Amino acid sequence: MAIRKIVEIGSDKLRKVCKPVEKFDKRLQVLLDDMADTMYKANGVGLAGPQVGILRRVAVIDVGDGLFKMVNPVIVETAGEQRGPEGCLSVPGRSGYVVRPNEVTVQYQDENGEPVTLHTEEFFARAICHELDHLDGVLYIDKMDEEIFDEDDEYYDEDFEEEDE
Ligand code: CO
Repeated sequence: MAIRKIVEIGSDKLRKVCKPVEKFDKRLQVLLDDMADTMYKANGVGLAGPQVGILRRVAVIDVGDGLFKMVNPVIVETAGEQRGPEGCLSVPGRSGYVVRPNEVTVQYQDENGEPVTLHTEEFFARAICHELDHLDGVLYIDKMDEEIFDEDDEYYDEDFEEEDE
């Protein structure tokens, strides 16, 4: 178990197409465990290989339905549409609205190489789309149709003055 450093926007590692995983060995299992630890520590719901500097097709996701470790994931079917807010641990301090499919069926291998097919909806489907985009060097900001600015954020308030507590 280890927390890895999260790669942030500006790094070209976030813009590469990742290679498939071929070896299902202890090293892969350690990587997936580290990615999960790193995601939970950062209060994220998903993390993809490039975000820890590993240009392989791996992602971890936990939107509240348990931890899913996905190796070589591929979206095989989508249905419907949803528009909702997204953020990204590699793009700190920003968020925006992105249109995604409402239902996503994904096929992947688990950490032992066993094939899994999973049907997901709504936020889980959104998270899968977001994480799989990372594996092709795509960030949500490339797809968002509106940036979100928090109206209550004091830094956007004209009358904001710094105060000592
Ligand atoms: Co992201």
